[in-house]
Amino acid sequence: MRTQVGIIGAGPAGLLLSHLLHLRGISSVVLEKRGRAYVERRVRAGVLEQGTVDTLVEAGVGARLLREGLPHRGIELRYGGQGRRIAFEKLVPGRSITVYGQQEVVKDLIAARLEAGGDVRFEIEDVAVHGLEAEPYLTFGGERLDCDVIAGCDGFHGVSRPSIPPGVLRLFEREYPFAWLGILARVAPSSEELIYARTERGFALHSMRSPTVSRFYLQVPPDATVAEWPDERIWAELKARLETVPGFTLDTGEIFDKGVTPMRAFVAEPMQYGRLYLAGDAAHIVPPTGAKGLNLAVADVRVLTEALDRFFSTGSADLLDTYSESCLKRVWRAQHFSWWMTTLLHTFDSDDDYGRRLQLSYLDYVTSSEAAATTLAENYVGLP
Ligand code: APR
Ligand code: PHB
Repeated sequence: MRTQVGIIGAGPAGLLLSHLLHLRGISSVVLEKRGRAYVERRVRAGVLEQGTVDTLVEAGVGARLLREGLPHRGIELRYGGQGRRIAFEKLVPGRSITVYGQQEVVKDLIAARLEAGGDVRFEIEDVAVHGLEAEPYLTFGGERLDCDVIAGCDGFHGVSRPSIPPGVLRLFEREYPFAWLGILARVAPSSEELIYARTERGFALHSMRSPTVSRFYLQVPPDATVAEWPDERIWAELKARLETVPGFTLDTGEIFDKGVTPMRAFVAEPMQYGRLYLAGDAAHIVPPTGAKGLNLAVADVRVLTEALDRFFSTGSADLLDTYSESCLKRVWRAQHFSWWMTTLLHTFDSDDDYGRRLQLSYLDYVTSSEAAATTLAENYVGLP
């Protein structure tokens, strides 16, 4: 078998890449370890930057997103008994975010790929990467797929990054001393906009998926398990962390999904080796506080599509050669923003009174100075 681009992983990065390449007349095969139902049900974050929405709409996979996505023109920062709004419409006119679950993006992309006759294979468990220096190919289940280029879109735990020879990559990492417990509940959101709450009990986030489904997160210890968090405990803790301003009550409902997400940051440099190009979580992870994970994956794929189009249409590898360099500028901006939001809003060492005063001082500053608020807003909605 032969294809132009062998893609490992059917997450947002791999699927979008396959779709954008198809629109440019470039062939690809997507090999995914999990089943289709699993991939379509995997619950992740749900905040799309303007640039991400534009990319999906221009690629013809944005119809349902435009119908069902929830446009947001601000967020609330809640701390010290008050809620303060960061008003995107005033600070970054014309730019906003859209709340739309990542698994909905994945469903839309899979449907589009299959409708166009795309080759997306699920439950392929033993993909291996070969010949990166000269003649790349993938093997799986006794088969061999020759390609001109391999795209490693297989997430943080995939096989593509580890197939790069030792000593080539420089790895940057940070572990946070907490995790997020995330839930989905059948209840109308208690707020129109997202609430990022800093409390002495830890961080909480009120988000949503639709007019009838709410999404919440709680800062929990790094080794927390879902079993330790029965529904009543979750609602009690969400109320304790969110019902902190006069007049706000949190509506509760049936919890139908629970999961614990570790909080870590990771960057592999460069994001390429020989004929292998890494995109999305395979190359970098951010803590979810800034909601940048999916948006970075889409940004990588945009750059890679242009570079591959140029390569296949002119034979020039110049854009491929600078792929990593082009992506890493945005990656590091998002790393900093995610670290900054995380540091501002979470409880760290309970003995660190000095650190707490710094957080509160910065929260006052970022919610009262237009210059500081604009910094938050322009990073949150996504830099051009
Ligand atoms: N072989 C084939 N597929 C694999 C392998 C493997 N060895 N290992 C992992 N995969 C698949 C995973 O099952 C998953 O479907 O690769 C896909 C990677 O998808 P994601 O983890 O969603 O990563 P990515 O497409 O880069 O999207 C980044 O995902 O983790 C979130 O928050 C993150 O929003 C960000 C987004
Ligand atoms: C989500 O809705 O899942 C979400 C929103 C904002 C974040 C992270 C996750 O910062």
